[in-house]
Amino acid sequence: MNHSDLDPSWQQGSTVVILAAGKASRMRGTKHKAKAFETICSKAIIQHQLDTILDSGIKQVVIVINPVFEKDFCRLKEQYPSLSIQLAMQSEAKGTAHATMQALPLIESSKTIIIAGDTPLITKNIFTNALSDLKSCRLTVAVYDNPEGFGRIIRNSEGQIQQIVEQKDCTLEQASIKEASTGIISATTSILKKYCPQISNTNQQKEFYLTDLVNLLVSDGHKIQSNQVTEPWQAKGVNTPKELCDLERAYSTAQCEKLIAQGVKIKDAERFDCRGQLSCGKNVTIDINVIIEGVVHLGDDVSVGASCILRNCTIEKASIVKPFSIIEDSYVHESAQIGPYAYCRNQTKVGKSSEIGCFVESKQTVIGDGSKAKHLSYLGNLSIGKKVNIGAGVIHCNYDGSQKHTSNIGDHAFVGANTSIVAPLSISANATIAAGSTVTKAVPENALAISRARQENKANWKSRKKQSELCSTPIT
Ligand code: UD1
Ligand code: CA
Repeated sequence: MNHSDLDPSWQQGSTVVILAAGKASRMRGTKHKAKAFETICSKAIIQHQLDTILDSGIKQVVIVINPVFEKDFCRLKEQYPSLSIQLAMQSEAKGTAHATMQALPLIESSKTIIIAGDTPLITKNIFTNALSDLKSCRLTVAVYDNPEGFGRIIRNSEGQIQQIVEQKDCTLEQASIKEASTGIISATTSILKKYCPQISNTNQQKEFYLTDLVNLLVSDGHKIQSNQVTEPWQAKGVNTPKELCDLERAYSTAQCEKLIAQGVKIKDAERFDCRGQLSCGKNVTIDINVIIEGVVHLGDDVSVGASCILRNCTIEKASIVKPFSIIEDSYVHESAQIGPYAYCRNQTKVGKSSEIGCFVESKQTVIGDGSKAKHLSYLGNLSIGKKVNIGAGVIHCNYDGSQKHTSNIGDHAFVGANTSIVAPLSISANATIAAGSTVTKAVPENALAISRARQENKANWKSRKKQSELCSTPIT
């Protein structure tokens, strides 16, 4: 085969088998949750894997599961409509080869990659390498220098892989080998169909080991290729809560080191959590205890204050996110100021040079360029024009108990403090709303709306309490 096979059809003609029917006894979770649904880096393990498969251009996935979790896994089919996900049942965990056997009848493609259902941070590169190796051999194993607890790679004096020995079956000498199996195997489907049924369970754990394929193929004169995973965390399986925790840290540390090398000024690498993908422009600063989830981009000169959570958002250049703010599924244009204690969520768009301040919550709201809402507001389902002033305590009353309604506020409008805007309505450009108003009708351009009780002052008035105090005899 030649290099031209690297076209997308190569990926499309491949299937990933995810083995996720193990007992997961070491995870000490509940009986109601499969290990594949444990959360790491803000997503379920299986979602990480499916996202990466999708990104790799591979279309077919067979997940081997314990039938008790069928409903949970079935939902993935709806979540990933562009993948063809099939479920294969393994009611009793008899080993990774037995699990693979359950998947084989469902595989139509000529190439297959088998991965464990507990390796969340597997990368697109690992998939690509596993597949491109199949141009020159029938079976490849991904390996790393991460021996503790894993199957050891046994090579002959010429360096050819001979077999994989599980740790529990290792001699002392074999146990001292550093090179270990990641559990990721790629092979032509015909090889799997031929050799998997030949695997026996004559080992320490009385399990059918998929890794025994290596030995069987070598006996028949096949050469096994290996590809090195240089960053072990990418292929690491999680078996215990401690490993889950360590892997999350390993991922975050790796992201952090990469960002620092690119020039991002992270105040304290140990107090920074990157659980997603963060890209940054030049001269970005990030204070302590910031959490990044999903895909986040920070433009040049952005600074993020302490204890902020940024999830699936873009913050354009020179914007400042002050401490304790949360921005999710939102877009902040350049030179804006957010926070402290702001909550921008669900498709909020903050315009250029706008300010969203302390205890302001926004949702599905567009805030025009140069507008300000600096204190204690709820801005949901609202469209705000340019250079609008939203006073302290303004509430957009968008919910009537059954439906959400939208309102809009024109350019240069001034909404006085403690105003309630009862949706749906329109406040036109240059309108002014007097403080403390409850606005229920449209306000025309340039108009002043006042909607509050008139104040009355009663001269020399004494409260009842004061009057009764004057009359009563003091108690001694
Ligand atoms: C496996 C590999 C080992 C490798 C290690 C890397 C085998 C025999 N061993 O060991 O060489 O170094 O991964 O992490 O393959 N599963 C099933 N059905 C079963 C048994 C397991 O679906 O009957 C699934 C599990 O849910 C898990 C995966 O297969 O997701 C791997 O099984 P696990 O028991 O974790 O294998 P390891 O001991 O980690
Ligand atoms: Ca494992």
